[in-house]
Amino acid sequence: MDKPKVVLGVSGGIAAYKACELLRRLTESGHDVRVVPTASALHFVGAATWSALSGHPVSTEVWDDVHEVPHVRIGQGADLVVVAPATADMLAKAAHGLADDLLTNTLLTARCPVVFAPAMHTEMWEHPATQENVATLRRRGAVVIEPAVGRLTGVDTGKGRLPDPVEIFEVCRRVLARGVTEPDLKGRHVVVSAGGTREPLDPVRFLGNRSSGKQGYALARTAAARGARVTLLAANTGLPDPAGVDVVQVETAVQLREAVLKAAADADAVVMAAAVADFRPAEYATGKIKKKDDKDPEPVVLVRNPDILAEVSADRARPGQVVVGFAAETDDVLANGRTKLVRKGCDLLVVNEVGERKTFGSEENEAVVLGADGSETTVPYGPKEALAETVWDLVAQRLA
Ligand SMILES: Cc1cc2nc3c(=O)[nH]c(=O)nc-3n(C[C@H](O)[C@H](O)[C@H](O)COP(=O)(O)O)c2cc1C
Repeated sequence: MDKPKVVLGVSGGIAAYKACELLRRLTESGHDVRVVPTASALHFVGAATWSALSGHPVSTEVWDDVHEVPHVRIGQGADLVVVAPATADMLAKAAHGLADDLLTNTLLTARCPVVFAPAMHTEMWEHPATQENVATLRRRGAVVIEPAVGRLTGVDTGKGRLPDPVEIFEVCRRVLARGVTEPDLKGRHVVVSAGGTREPLDPVRFLGNRSSGKQGYALARTAAARGARVTLLAANTGLPDPAGVDVVQVETAVQLREAVLKAAADADAVVMAAAVADFRPAEYATGKIKKKDDKDPEPVVLVRNPDILAEVSADRARPGQVVVGFAAETDDVLANGRTKLVRKGCDLLVVNEVGERKTFGSEENEAVVLGADGSETTVPYGPKEALAETVWDLVAQRLA
């Protein structure tokens, strides 16, 4: 089988060097990558690097090898075009259909999915001109990854940083795997919770659970690759932010509830993959609880936490909002799952059995997705992303 053909467009931002890592990942995972830098990009990383790493000649403009008509052929032959970093200038040119170099010509001739990974200073990103250009590109079906928040060029920090190349690679892989030019969650806002809540006893101790957040992050990543605007509510995961996703950090169940209700207000779907503590200590000791030599410890009194899934399901923020819950069970998995689905009132419940090599902390999972309509979808053992894709398939069906 031919290798999938990827065009890696690189425009003139300081983060151009990070595209070398993206290029390496793409080539090592079996993609045939043609790099098309802009003239500005070559100020940051030279043509020799792109050519040596990709194994292809590199040109910035349409006047080289004219007999091969590269301004048309490169785009026509591509299975995916990814522009990383995408400058404010490149987003503007793409949105307006300008074609004054090889990359902009390629963007006009490509009929495959296109991913932009913007990187720029916060002021440039937030400027209405850039935001309108991004909206135009998304409306046309391009996947525009949200920039990350962090250190920018010079002493500045803020939103505008190029997401980690590993994350951009994951988006590319998912977009290529789906092979669609029209992302099916385009224009949708989805909220995903991930990780496990921590309920503090004192400033150093908490009651927690084993959830790693990997399933929730897979859900966030795959939804972004399918064109959704994603809000990820991350509870104590320690995982890097997925590319193109707005991440809100929370610690406790009460904080998660607040964050879910706020984000769900305009959401098309809410997927609650986080493991939420059912109970929290009734009292929080402001100082560290000390061991007393001659005394047994005081019992810990617990109170109920809010049932966020039941609340979101019962009180939908907008008509047609799809609510998905997760249930990790150890016994009578399906029977307990069905009972929980009815009790919570959600549309879908992903039921998985807690076991070795699956659920907590692992890269793999297997599950049955129960529908309130009586449906049962079995997802065999495999990467958490495969389960995530099935969940979005089922959500997309219900949204349609
Ligand atoms: C040191 C330096 C860093 C730059 N970094 C960025 C950047 O991160 N993002 C951006 O949009 N523009 C950045 N620019 C400005 C672009 O290089 C400039 O807009 C250029 O015209 C972009 O051309 P291109 O889109 O054809 O690559 C930077 C310029 C310089 C000199």
